[in-house]
Amino acid sequence: MSKRIVLVTGAARGLGAVVARRFHQAGYRVGLADIAFDEVQGVARELDASGDTACAIRLDVTSKADFAAALDTLVQRWGGVDVLVNNAGASKVVPVMDITAEQFDLVIDVNLRSVLFGCQVFGQYFADRGEGRIVNVASLAGQNGGSATGAHYAAAKGGAITLTKVFARDLAARGVTVNAISPGPLDLPIVHESVPADKLKTVIAGIPVGRLGSAQYVADVAVLLASPDAYFANGACWDVNGGLYMR
Ligand SMILES: NC(=O)c1ccc[n+]([C@@H]2O[C@H](COP(=O)([O-])OP(=O)(O)OC[C@H]3O[C@@H](n4cnc5c(N)ncnc54)[C@H](O)[C@@H]3O)[C@@H](O)[C@H]2O)c1
Repeated sequence: MSKRIVLVTGAARGLGAVVARRFHQAGYRVGLADIAFDEVQGVARELDASGDTACAIRLDVTSKADFAAALDTLVQRWGGVDVLVNNAGASKVVPVMDITAEQFDLVIDVNLRSVLFGCQVFGQYFADRGEGRIVNVASLAGQNGGSATGAHYAAAKGGAITLTKVFARDLAARGVTVNAISPGPLDLPIVHESVPADKLKTVIAGIPVGRLGSAQYVADVAVLLASPDAYFANGACWDVNGGLYMR
């Protein structure tokens, strides 16, 4: 059987790099996309220096044209794409009363407009071929308003969960499923870099399971949702938050 193909955005580091590695281990050909091209090229080469099963793609998720170009690249290189993981995201914490129009727009563009464009471009392609899987990486912040990440980020992630439902409903009859994963704080570099050590201790103490989340496990969930067998999981938001938010 020919290998399935996935595009992972924000794959240069953090969760995206873990997700890309996990899909590769699961036997996928992996397109690793990021705005940080040198870094993402390093991860792609580490997976497969020959380029046969992993390739780096320059992609700014705020650009719909970049998504279209990435799709073309993968179709030309490997003959198609089966899965999109909209993982890229970013935020800079600013108190809610101080967020400027520019700061708001930037965070919305990277975390929410990216999901719109990814689902439009790949959703249309998947619908036309009658199959496909989209996994959007949202956040606990999009469900509970967040604490450490900023109101603009929380609002964007809430919007990403809503867009997941809209695309899931619209594309379902054409063989395409769209789901979100909503992680709580993960044991990843960004968390250690952006949260001061003493504050992080308090954050961890407040998590019911008493520890940060595993990025590897979130990656396993993404692979599970990407499976051809996953046709009945659609429009869902998969919570992986240690019990911080239950519903
Ligand atoms: N780390 C956590 O605890 C946590 C929790 C919940 C959700 N998330 C979500 O997981 C995803 C990955 O986060 P992370 O923790 O790995 O962050 P990170 O900052 O370590 O990595 C984000 C990656 O996205 C890339 N990126 C940023 N802007 C981009 C753009 N415009 N176009 C393309 N790529 C861009 C960066 O270059 C980087 O490689 C994000 O959507 C984030 O919101 C993370």
